[in-house]
Amino acid sequence: MRVLVTGGSGYVGSVVCRHLAETHDIAIFDQRPPQTPSAPFIRGDILNSAHLHEAVHDMDAVVHLAAIPHPNNDPSDAVMNVNVMGTQRVVEAVALGNPRRIVIASSDSTYGFVFGRGEIKPEAIPVDEAHPARPMDSYGLSKLLGEEICRRYTRHCGLETVCLRYCWVWCEREYARLAAMSNTPEHFVGQLWGYVDVRDVAQAIGKSLETPDITHATLNITAAKTFQRAPSVELARRFLPEGLEIRDPGWFEADPHRTFIDWTRAKELIGFEPQYDAWEEAGLSV
Ligand SMILES: NC(=O)c1ccc[n+]([C@@H]2O[C@H](COP(=O)([O-])OP(=O)(O)OC[C@H]3O[C@@H](n4cnc5c(N)ncnc54)[C@H](O)[C@@H]3O)[C@@H](O)[C@H]2O)c1
Repeated sequence: MRVLVTGGSGYVGSVVCRHLAETHDIAIFDQRPPQTPSAPFIRGDILNSAHLHEAVHDMDAVVHLAAIPHPNNDPSDAVMNVNVMGTQRVVEAVALGNPRRIVIASSDSTYGFVFGRGEIKPEAIPVDEAHPARPMDSYGLSKLLGEEICRRYTRHCGLETVCLRYCWVWCEREYARLAAMSNTPEHFVGQLWGYVDVRDVAQAIGKSLETPDITHATLNITAAKTFQRAPSVELARRFLPEGLEIRDPGWFEADPHRTFIDWTRAKELIGFEPQYDAWEEAGLSV
């Protein structure tokens, strides 16, 4: 399969491109070149439709990662412009070109907890994709609107769209900080103490490209456990609202450190199964 990866020079994109290049014919579309080239590079801007039409037209599928990846350093207008208008132009180019499927990077920040300054709390755990999405920051909103753009094109022209809601994406640099981060749960309530290894993100993208018979899907992508020493039930009792609905009473019985993010839909639809665990990667025991 010929696959164009927007944002392929970035942190997530570089690992995704290496993974996909094992089985597919990859091209990287980015405004800056990759540090370690793993595939042909096309310099372009996702806000420029001409660049996109040229790059997309003979591809079989597109993976869209290019974005401003958090709301911390850029004005809201810039975040909305690059993430929403950029996604609109990428999906439009895909719909007008040869590809049948696009897989885009969404985020667990769509739910609103991550950048919600502690004011947005879950209504039910584990959080599945049916949980209300109420971002109060520009980044979470931009990712939610990106998903809506995908749904609209699926309805409009049958474009196959997959939106992957990644938790905080981790690699070596986070594993090196695990010991410190695992003892300060108060700093990570917004993330619900969740993360996902960047190689599991690559796995999810590969499976999203290769699974037949998808029209539209929005899927949580997470590690299986939190990165905290404290058991999940204790974290919920200390930091989450009293009387919170527990959707699946057996969820934390299966594993006391189980994540608060439910990835059952990704498992059932694309066969996603998280492979990497922070404690093993850091060489520590919980
Ligand atoms: N890193 C995380 O923890 C995380 C979590 C959830 C979702 N995501 C999403 O995953 C995707 C990748 O994130 P990342 O952490 O690798 O970010 P990154 O900043 O490392 O990579 C983004 C890439 O997009 C490119 N880009 C930005 N604007 C562009 C434009 N106008 N035209 C062309 N290229 C442009 C950048 O040059 C960069 O290479 C993003 O969509 C992000 O929102 C990331």
